[in-house]
Amino acid sequence: MEKFADRIVKSSKKRRSKIILALDLNPSTSNLLDKGLKLLSQVSQSVCAVKINRHMLLPLGLFGGVERLVDYAHRLGLPAIMDCKLNDIGSTNRVMAEWFFKAGFDALTVSPYVGWEEGLEPVFRFSKEQGKGLLVLTYMSHKGAEQTFERALLAGYGKPKPAYKVFARWALEWKADGAIVGATRPEKIVEVKRILKGEVSIYSPGVGVQGGSLEEAVKSGADYLIVGRSILRAENPGEAAESLRERAWKAAGRRRGAT
Ligand code: XMP
Repeated sequence: MEKFADRIVKSSKKRRSKIILALDLNPSTSNLLDKGLKLLSQVSQSVCAVKINRHMLLPLGLFGGVERLVDYAHRLGLPAIMDCKLNDIGSTNRVMAEWFFKAGFDALTVSPYVGWEEGLEPVFRFSKEQGKGLLVLTYMSHKGAEQTFERALLAGYGKPKPAYKVFARWALEWKADGAIVGATRPEKIVEVKRILKGEVSIYSPGVGVQGGSLEEAVKSGADYLIVGRSILRAENPGEAAESLRERAWKAAGRRRGAT
């Protein structure tokens, strides 16, 4: 099976889009599943993938509704990412991964804080066997992320280093499909990009409502932008997604031109 990282590149090139829709609808909304399906069809030409998290998983259930969203995304040609931030012991992580993959997800997010042995190693092994992708949290987008992602870790690289630098090195060593760095901190995107040596893509949430600048994030090295509320709250989500698509594609063109 083709690698997830290759599949998302193809989807991105086909639509000239670097935008990943975060399908975070209000879980209390009536007809949640129908609204999710409708949104996917509205933005399908402007995004290169969809990301789903607990907003949909808790009210709809994995096989009660989320699987249908994943299936519909696939029919539209969009890979689906489960933002589950796996952070338990390896055996439990593996069970969760197995079930998310059974529901059709193409990739999952994982937290590096649990480490490798008996933490994320079983998930990486299993995901590779299945041709699925894993995206490693490297520096989260919210304000409080500084409290943990800046903390020095002793991780066998000589002197202690800030956690996000260690996580970026792990993402590279573990052959992850992506490292997640908030668009709210473009300077961290630059640093992480250097560590990843072009071998792991950067996924950036935080554009728009959280205050991150799309252009700055792309200029700094973000390969994909994860966007939720700026699209979901727009009067016309299709138009909002299309405008973001165009801006991100242009910004990426400028970055290529500058290198
Ligand atoms: P908004 O509405 O702010 O949604 O555009 C952003 C989406 O991205 C998720 N998110 C993150 N996921 N690491 C992640 O793995 C992060 O640092 C991060 N920050 C935001 C959030 O759950 C929402 O779906």
